Formats: sequence, C-alpha cells, structure tokens
Amino acid sequence: MIDVLLGLQWGDEGKGKIVDHLALQYDIIARFQGGPNAGHTLYVDGKKVVLRTIPSGVFHSHCLNLIGNGVVIDPVSLQQEIEQLIPLRPDVVSRLFVAHRAHLILPTHRALDAASEAAKGVDKIGSTLKGIGPAYMDKTGRNGLRVGDILSKDFRAKYDKLAQKHIQMLGQYTHKIEWEQWEQPFFEACDYLRSLQIVNSEYWLDGHLNDGKRVLAEGAQGSMLDIDYGTYPFVTSSNTIAAGVCNGLGVAPSRVGEVYGITKAYCTRVGGGPFPTELDDETGEELRRVGNEFGAVTGRSRRCGWIDLVALRYAVMLSGVTKLIITKTDVLDSFNPIKAAVAYIADGKETKELPYDLCDVEIVPVYETFAGWDKPISACTTYEETPQVFRDYCRFVENYLGTKIAYISNGTGRDQLLHIS
Ligand code: GDP
Ligand code: IMO
Ligand code: MG
Repeated sequence: MIDVLLGLQWGDEGKGKIVDHLALQYDIIARFQGGPNAGHTLYVDGKKVVLRTIPSGVFHSHCLNLIGNGVVIDPVSLQQEIEQLIPLRPDVVSRLFVAHRAHLILPTHRALDAASEAAKGVDKIGSTLKGIGPAYMDKTGRNGLRVGDILSKDFRAKYDKLAQKHIQMLGQYTHKIEWEQWEQPFFEACDYLRSLQIVNSEYWLDGHLNDGKRVLAEGAQGSMLDIDYGTYPFVTSSNTIAAGVCNGLGVAPSRVGEVYGITKAYCTRVGGGPFPTELDDETGEELRRVGNEFGAVTGRSRRCGWIDLVALRYAVMLSGVTKLIITKTDVLDSFNPIKAAVAYIADGKETKELPYDLCDVEIVPVYETFAGWDKPISACTTYEETPQVFRDYCRFVENYLGTKIAYISNGTGRDQLLHIS
C-alpha cells in the first residue's frame, strides 16, 4: 500500500518534520507534485536543512527517495540541493530516483513567472517565482520538456523551439527579465541530471509495491493551494490533495492506504489571496514572532490567524484524511484565549461550507473560544501529560473534523512529537 501525507492549509504545516519522523516506518518516500516552490524544514543532528524537490526521507539510510512524474524539476535547483546534502548524507545520490515523465522548469519559465507576476501588479498571486505556473502550463498545453527528453539526441533542438516560444511571449510584457545568464547553468545542470538514476517510475513503484515495500507519498504546498479546490486563482498549479498521488505517481486509487493530513494549531498563508481568519493585529504579529513564521524558501513573512475548521473540514473531505496531525501546538502556549473558526457568515448568511469564491464574498468567521493551556505543551513528552484543556480542545477538533488525531507536534526537534494511540 501507499500512504499519503499532505498539508491541509496553505502550506508550511510542518510536512518536512513529520515525513522525516514517519520515514522510519517506510522504505520509499515519493514526491508527487509541486517543485522547488516547496520548502520543507528538517532538523538533523541539530542542523537545519530545507528541502525543495528532494523527498524528506533522505536522512534515513534505509529509505529510497523518488521524485515522481507529477513534480516539475528545475535542474539547477536540484543539483544545488544534492550538493548541499552530500556532506551530510554521502549516499544521497545512490538512494535518489527521478521519473522520466517529470517536466522540466526552463530558465524562460522562471522569466515568464516573474514577468506575469509583475504585470498583475497588486493582484499578483505572490508566486515563489520558481517558474512553477509556466512549467505546468506547458505540460497541460502539451509543449513541455520532460526529464526523458534530456536523454534524447535532439534535446537542444527541443529546448530551442520551446525557448523561442517563450521569448516571443516575454516580448509582450513591459517588465523585462534578464534570464539569459541562467541558460548556461541550466545546460550544465541537465548534464548532471543525466547522471542520476532516471526511471520509469510507475513500473519502478509497482515493482516495489508488489515486493511488499512500504511507500509514503509526500505532498507539497497545501490543500487550499490546490489548482481545482483551493482559493483560485490564488493557488499553485498542481493538485495538492490526495487525488494528485494517483496522477503524480502512476499508482491506482485502490493502492492508497492511510492519508495523513497536517494542520498547524493556528493558520498561516504566504503570498496573496483570501484568508478568512487572518489576524491583522497584535495577536497575528505575536503568532508570527513566536511561531517564527517566515518563509523557508523566500524568507517572506507569513500571514497569521486562528485555525479555520471550516476550511480544514473541506480539506479533510477532499482527501479522505484518516489520521490527523496537529503541529506547532507549543506556539499557542502563551496565548489565552485561543480561537477556532467553526462557521462563516458569508454575505450575511451562516454556513459551514467553503464558498465557491472566497475573493468575491464578504466573510466573517464565527469563532469558538477556548481557555489557554495552563501548562506548556512544549514541556510534555507524552499526550497523557498534556493539560486537560488542551485535550478538550483536541477532542473538539476531532469531533468537528470527524477524524482522529494521530500525532501532536510540540517543537521543531525530531523527537518533539506526541503519539496518540
Ligand atoms: P513544510 O513546508 O510543511 O515542511 O513546513 P515548513 O518547513 O515550511 O515550515 C514549518 C516550520 O515550522 C519549520 O520552521 C519547522 O521547523 C517548524 N515546525 C514544525 N513543527 C513544529 C512544531 O511543532 N513547533 C514549532 N515551534 N515549530 C515547528
Ligand atoms: P510547502 O511545500 C506555502 C504559494 C505561494 C503563492 C502560491 C503560488 O513548503 O508547504 P507558486 O510558486 O506555486 O506559483 O506560488 O502558492 N506557495 C506556498 N506557500 N508553502 C509552499 O510550499 C508553497 N508553494 C507555493 O506563496 O501564494
Ligand atoms: Mg514550507
């Protein structure tokens, strides 16, 4: 069976830390969507590492790591990431596999991302500017280049044809991007990519699953950034929900087992777009400070607010979450009271459903208020040690979402995780 782990909010829920922990129970960790827009933070031997395209199982020597066909790969960024990991895990390359069918991010994709965002002005999405949107556009537009193409004799011709098309498109923007200097490093990194283990990943995975290997699919971004079900158009360009696993890895739905869904004990968002429970006040500022809410990739400050159970219930429904994980509970140690949105007043009407277009309606969250914990969660080493008020809060969240909590994360460290049996 293949289990899934994904974010239920707008990304940065702590997926990297949790995958690093769960990897002990798995033989293979596979990324199925997204690309270097992701920034998954892990603490290994006290050292902070941010992974972008490489799965978060890389620090466990028993784990193979697959970059699946649903991922978009920037060869330059991937090479840099591998080179940063080699001193920490010299065997990283021998345990890394890349899908033939994964699409490439070209230098001109990054330029188009930047030009398109600049042209949008105040309506910009707040993209990570890694070329994600333009690369996926070429994929669905049937123009893209895939990892397998770098093995073909005509790679340069294929590249030139697509780059020419992009150059024409760039000419329509007033904002000029000097992307030409990115071309040489791109070709050098393609040479490096050629030396990696490039596989027909759907057969590769099928073989491992038939041999009884345990596989964990690692999501990037979060459910509210899903291209179909997120807060469109302020989303990323891939399917971040559990359905994306089947497309992004070539596995059948009948093979999917547990679905781990991660949420922070509060909520954050980076970039533009609606955020009903956002706190534009001192409490929001305090969440940012205590939670250290600054982007792992871009360093941008993350917008902060209370946990939104309306949006979470939607995300749990879309992915069929079977095990919930709540992270950053320790961040709320100093907050009293603590709030959770349980409904929206949308254009004057109360609802527990996520409206079709959050941008176009006025939303006022309805909050349930909880007393702050009377003992720091960060100091607890078992769930049983946590204060009763905290456990009451957990029961409330479980009942609202209709899913059991499996883990509570109470710090950045690998071992700061409380298991609920
Ligand atoms: P990801 O993209 O979902 O992997 O999350 P990020 O790495 O972008 O952001 C999560 C941040 O929260 C990282 O800096 C983690 O080290 C940190 N983190 C994860 N779990 C916890 C936790 O339980 N408590 C605290 N205080 N920080 C955490
Ligand atoms: P991880 O995996 C948080 C956001 C961007 C922007 C929107 C579109 O670390 O949770 P894109 O570059 O994909 O075109 O940007 O999506 N975004 C993320 N926000 N965490 C991420 O990844 C994100 N990846 C993209 O900020 O609003
Ligand atoms: Mg992140």
